[in-house]
Amino acid sequence: MIEHKRKKLSVIGSGFVGSTCAHWAASQELADVMLLDINEGSAKGKALDLAQAAPVMNFNSLVSGTSQYKDIANSDVIIITAGMARKPGMSRDDLLKTNASIMKKVCQGIKEHAPQSIVIVVSNPLDAMAFVAKETLGFPANRVIGMAGILDSARFKTFIAEAANVSVEDVHAFVLGGHGDTMVPMPNHCSIGGAPLSSFLSKEKIESIIDRTRKGGAEIVGLLKTGSAYYAPAASAVQMATAILKNQHRVLPCAAFLQGEYGVKDLFLGVLCQLGGTGLEKVVELKLNSTEQSQLDNSVSAVKELVNTLKSMDY
Ligand code: 2OP
Repeated sequence: MIEHKRKKLSVIGSGFVGSTCAHWAASQELADVMLLDINEGSAKGKALDLAQAAPVMNFNSLVSGTSQYKDIANSDVIIITAGMARKPGMSRDDLLKTNASIMKKVCQGIKEHAPQSIVIVVSNPLDAMAFVAKETLGFPANRVIGMAGILDSARFKTFIAEAANVSVEDVHAFVLGGHGDTMVPMPNHCSIGGAPLSSFLSKEKIESIIDRTRKGGAEIVGLLKTGSAYYAPAASAVQMATAILKNQHRVLPCAAFLQGEYGVKDLFLGVLCQLGGTGLEKVVELKLNSTEQSQLDNSVSAVKELVNTLKSMDY
């Protein structure tokens, strides 16, 4: 059957991450894109600019900008990037209160105008913002998913490929846990073209790559000075949107609202997820060794603490 209607992707927040999401998505003709920002000029201006790249780059997706939540009606997928970015010296957690209140307003708008959508949360601190989104939206767990694991894993893969002098395409690696300093890179589950990491890199080198991965976001904040990363975060969010919009059943590290997996309940945590047309199709639970389990427990405690702080706040 001929598909008559293109899918609709809305992106909330037209800052660097949001506009770059729109860019990747439109240029791949993933969907028609609606860019929403409270700063109407920013949303409309960037959307118009991107739409005018279409005749040059040869894509047919429509790109529009708005400040009105009614314009996100009938979105299949919504990526939320709205919020303040980190400044040098700030942790993701410093953003907690400000971004929680932004997230709440955004999700009230989504709940009213796009109640059937599948929502991907990108704003920081990620695991806590996904929690605020889920609480406010009242959507089931399959329709609220956080983006962090793909980004952290992409950094891990990039550093591995560089150190081993191999193609990034041959590196398979992932990171679990919260999107913060306690994240859990999983070297024992990595491979380069099917061979273990230890065939290419020393134990010390692997340890230094793990450390750099954990600080990967801060490294970029330190260099940029006026904001945080956006190319890789946006690419990662768009990979999730693609898995959903194209019903790909991909297995990717994402933040899911756990219901007993790894002994965790009612908390978002980075785990391996299967993503397809209904959003989160399944959490893939791994058997962890004792080191991995204790690192994951540590990460769970950090996320729990953040969510408890959040619960005690008026936002
Ligand atoms: C990062 O890791 C901004 O959290 C984002 O770069």
